Order: sequence, then structure tokens, then C-alpha cells
Amino acid sequence: MPITIIVGGQWGDEGKGKIIDHLAQSANVIARYSGGNNAGHTIENEHGKFALHLVPCGISWPNTKNIIGSGTVIDPNVLIQEIEEIEKAKLPGTIYISEKAHIVMPYHITLDQLEEKFRGNDAVGTTGRGIGPAYADKISRNGIRIGDLLHPEELKKKVKLNLELKNKIIEKVYNGQTIEENTVFSSINSWVTKLQKYITNTEEIINKSINDKENIILEGAQGALLDIDHGTYPYVTSSNSIAGGSLTGLGIGSKKISKVHGVFKAFCTRVGEGPFPTEIFGEDAERIRKIAGEFGATTGRPRRIGWFDAVAARYSANINGLDSIILTKLDILDHWDEIKICVAYEFEGKILSYFPTDEKVLSKINPIYENIEGWKDSTFNLDSFEKINTKAKKFINRLEEIIELPINVISTGPKRESTIIRKKL
Ligand code: GDP
Ligand code: IMO
Ligand code: MG
Repeated sequence: MPITIIVGGQWGDEGKGKIIDHLAQSANVIARYSGGNNAGHTIENEHGKFALHLVPCGISWPNTKNIIGSGTVIDPNVLIQEIEEIEKAKLPGTIYISEKAHIVMPYHITLDQLEEKFRGNDAVGTTGRGIGPAYADKISRNGIRIGDLLHPEELKKKVKLNLELKNKIIEKVYNGQTIEENTVFSSINSWVTKLQKYITNTEEIINKSINDKENIILEGAQGALLDIDHGTYPYVTSSNSIAGGSLTGLGIGSKKISKVHGVFKAFCTRVGEGPFPTEIFGEDAERIRKIAGEFGATTGRPRRIGWFDAVAARYSANINGLDSIILTKLDILDHWDEIKICVAYEFEGKILSYFPTDEKVLSKINPIYENIEGWKDSTFNLDSFEKINTKAKKFINRLEEIIELPINVISTGPKRESTIIRKKL
């Protein structure tokens, strides 16, 4: 698998964590390239169950280097807590943090929440973790970087200036609660103490690993349809979650990438606002949400539920340059009479076979479904393709035909071993 990108193909929460924890057995480096603690990647293995927000999902394997890359934004309080949990559980991987990653400061969190409140009915439905404002400061060159923690006195000068401006916005624009300088300064002192040993030049580590021909997994966060450029803007996150984000988010040359695999659920979910063409409501949605436990790993919010959207999947395959699909949560569809796959959209009397980027079009289209006979048999925890019910195989084969990509890995449960490898990635 030399350098493999594992990317979310839908709106996030596809089961990337579970898959990466499985694949990391034969990896030397696992590197996160985008997002922050808006992500929640669940892994379940012999060490227990963990929802990782910042640390890559290779951490349960010994001899793995787990890199938090330059394209991420880091809330140090969340990272410190996560590292403490990892130490307590004795997870054996090592952690490296890019000095170029940006810090989510307390004022980013306040501003994220105030901006959302201000938007009212037009709110994005963010996780409220300060992600958007932190990336905005990065782009406008007002950001604070993890490497700045190594120079605390100069950092405090920068923070002082930033805080003065942000407090004016918080107070005068939003009538919100300002943030005390001393509280931020004392947080910074504890961040320096607890994080400095992990801060390094991660580009060097990863490029050395590439030159040594090691196995590397680039860990996507969020999903392609939440990408800042290619997602359902403005209902997106604030970073490039597609595969392309890994090049800038880690400092790797494009020629080095071997394969890109997209993780897709056998249905769809979305958290937060924004168009969702195959969304279903009522009893069916409730049933899937309950069986699948579709509640956010970060915020606990109930996830919106929909049928598999093959039009969106084909779009996702294009913008990520996918080589194959990793299908998760097959087991959730075990006991349905009929399962739907959206194969095209209808918009104002016309059939669309592509994914419209215009949010206004997308929110008005009607999905056209193909109905597949349910298999009404358990696939839960199965670990070989032969054991799967013939009708479930038909569903998988039909998805492959429609999306025109092979499904080589199938997940049948949250635990690491509940995985079917039809063909090694
Ligand atoms: P991520 O953000 O893409 O890593 O996904 P999340 O961890 O946020 O959400 C996926 C959820 O589905 C987690 O609770 C996983 O434990 C669970 N999960 C992953 N794969 C499977 C599967 O094949 N079957 C079932 N039943 N649960 C799964
Ligand atoms: P993982 O990596 C699902 C969504 C939020 C919101 C939008 C913008 O676990 O798949 P933000 O806080 O990023 O500004 O919110 O993006 N979102 C996610 N949805 N999974 C995620 O991550 C997400 N990260 C952000 O719900 O709609
Ligand atoms: Mg998640």
C-alpha cells in the first residue's frame, strides 16, 4: 500500500477511523491532513473503544508514527486531554505534531458560536469548535501556529494583539462575553509544558518515510461533500477534506501518492444543515439511526439519514480520483424488505446524472431510486465475502456497476476484525 489516502466519500462519519485502525497494522506512518476536533473517528479494538478527534487512528499499533499535519487546526486543550487518555490506555503508537498546524484559540470557539447564532435560520450547523474562525485567521495571516508555543514570550505579544481585536468584535458586534487575557496566558503556559515534546518538522519525517519506501496512510477527516471548495458550499467545513488536501496538508509531492480509497456507508448521513438529496424522515430514518447509533461522535447530535446516493458517490470518486471504494455499515441494512440506491436526480422535469454544485438546485432536486431486494439475513461481524448472503452480494455488485469502481473492503461491524478484505489495498 505504499502511500495510500483514505478519504471520506460522503458527508463525514463514514467509518474512516474503524477502517484506518484496521489498515494501520501494516503501516509505519499514519498522518492526518485536515480539519480539527470537529472530527470524531471511532476505533474499537483490543485496547477498548476510542473516539479520536485529532490523533490519527494508527495509534493502537506499536511502531506507528502518528502525525498531526500542517493542514490541521488544533485545540490544545482537546489534544492534551486526548493524549492523556491515550497514555492511560497505553496505546503504543507515537505522536508528532506539525509546527505549522494552526491553533484553535479560545476566541475562535466563542466567535464560531456567536457567528452561528447571528446567522439564525441560515446557520451552517457547525460543531461549534472554532474551526471556521481558526482557518479564517490562518488565511488572513493572523493565525497562531503550534510552533509559536516554542517561543512563549513572542507568542504572548501576538496573542495580546489578536485578543484586543477579537474582544472588540465579540463585545461590540455580537454583544458577547469577552475573553480575559490572563486566562489565555495561563492556558498557553500549560500548552507549552504539555505539548512541546511532540512539536516537530513533520514534513521531514513523512518524506524520509517515503524515501525509505515505508507504508504510509494519509487519514482524511470529514468527507468530500464537506470540502470547502468542492462540497455543498456554504454548508461545508473550512478545509480541503478531499484527497488533494493531503498534499498541502502534509507537504508531499503529488507523484508520491500510490492509491486513493474512498470510505462510504451503505447509506448516507449528514450532521448540520445543508442539502441532502436522499434524506429520509419518519420511521425509516429513526430505525436506521437507532440500529446504527447515528449520533455525532463529537457533538452527540442526531445524524440526518438518507439512502445511498450514487450520483454524489460518482462525483466524489471524480474529485478525489478514487481507485476503489471501502463500504461500511453493510450490517445496518440487514433486515430491510427493500433497499434504495439513488441513481439519478430529477430537476424541473429534466434528468440529471451528475451532482449539481449549485446549492439552490441541489436543495430542489428529486432523487430517482433503483430498488434492491433486501437480504434479510445477518452480515454482522462477517469477515469473508463468501459468508455473505447472495442478495447482499448483489447489492454490493450493483453499487460497483453504478459507481464504476471496485468495492474491495467491506465493513460489517464497529470492531476491527469485522472487516472483509476482498482484495488487498
Ligand atoms: P468517522 O468519522 O468516519 O471515523 O466515523 P465515526 O466514528 O464518526 O462514525 C462511524 C460509526 O460507525 C462509529 O460509531 C463506528 O464505531 C461505527 N462503525 C464503523 N463501521 C461500522 C460497521 O461496519 N458496522 C457498524 N454497525 N458500525 C460501524
Ligand atoms: P469526521 O472526520 C461529520 C460538519 C458539521 C457542519 C459542517 C461545518 O468525524 O467525519 P465545522 O465545525 O467543521 O465548521 O462544521 O461540517 N462536520 C462534520 N460532519 N463528520 C465530521 O468529521 C465533521 N466535521 C465537520 O456538522 O455541518
Ligand atoms: Mg466522525
